[in-house]
Amino acid sequence: MSLDNTIKEIQTSFHSDLSNCNTTTDLENIRITYLGRKGKITILFDDFVKLPGSEKPKYGKTLNVLKIELTTAFNQKLNELNPDKGGSNDSSADFSLPGYDLPKGSLHPLEQITSEIKSIFQSIGFSVAYGPEIDDDYHNFEALNVPKHHPARDMQDTFFIDPNTVLRTHTSNVQIHLMENQDPPIRHICCGRVFRNEAVSYKSFCLFNQVEGLVINESSSFAEMKGTLEYFVEEMFGKGTKMRFRPSYFPFTEPSAEVDIWNDKLNQWMEILGCGMVNPNVLTNVGYDNKKYQGFAFGMGIERIAMIKYGIKDIRLFYQNDKRFLEQF
Ligand code: DAH
Repeated sequence: MSLDNTIKEIQTSFHSDLSNCNTTTDLENIRITYLGRKGKITILFDDFVKLPGSEKPKYGKTLNVLKIELTTAFNQKLNELNPDKGGSNDSSADFSLPGYDLPKGSLHPLEQITSEIKSIFQSIGFSVAYGPEIDDDYHNFEALNVPKHHPARDMQDTFFIDPNTVLRTHTSNVQIHLMENQDPPIRHICCGRVFRNEAVSYKSFCLFNQVEGLVINESSSFAEMKGTLEYFVEEMFGKGTKMRFRPSYFPFTEPSAEVDIWNDKLNQWMEILGCGMVNPNVLTNVGYDNKKYQGFAFGMGIERIAMIKYGIKDIRLFYQNDKRFLEQF
């Protein structure tokens, strides 16, 4: 049979099948028989490829026209049988009805607080840095002036991967990476996850987030650090938020302090961060001249800031993915 006849035959039988078709199931069968992956039209196109070059232009056009014709007729029938899906031919649709409200996602509260913290510090010239969550003992402890067997190691219960590799217990490890990789001046913050092998309770979780800050240059001072952190507290918790610096101890800073802010609702001071002037030993460890350079550092827990800001009483809520909790932010 010539190709012309085959085409005619397929065209005729398609239209007759279509006009006899009354159900969407039959229609789907027609689609498969003619327009499907192994359907008659597809086979025609396969045959077309084998034609001699001189015949290709003519049949190419005929086949394309045929395919469009059948597809259009098919879609029309689909609209008739299935008005809800068709749309255009459906006179019963009321386009003035309000649309369905699709559920919207939102940023996790920790992500919201992190972005807020980043933009506060970026507004006063800090850049954002990143560092490894799995690190060696040297960067997480030793270079930060916490030698092996030093009692300060007990401040942070550590997950060890092997005797020399830890899940970082704080973002302070990034201080060392930053200083190893660049010369002063440094003015960076780093946000990220930290891990501690602690009993899980409403106030501590095995995983949480911190923001670390590091400023190194030839002139920074404790006064500048106070000014920086006062600015942060005002931006984060509102103008007039009462805060205090309390002397403290961290091996990597000297002198060190902790900052508390006054919580009006609970009527008590709440600790939000640790800070201090970078210990000269730390500067020496990274090869900086500690006679020439000095700086300050600070570190805070993001969950803690979020808990104070939003009045959340249990840290575990951040990690349970309960929509009833997440939808409130
Ligand atoms: N790394 C400390 C911790 O996790 C927090 C900290 C205190 C960071 C003082 C600092 C700092 O940079 O100067 O408890």
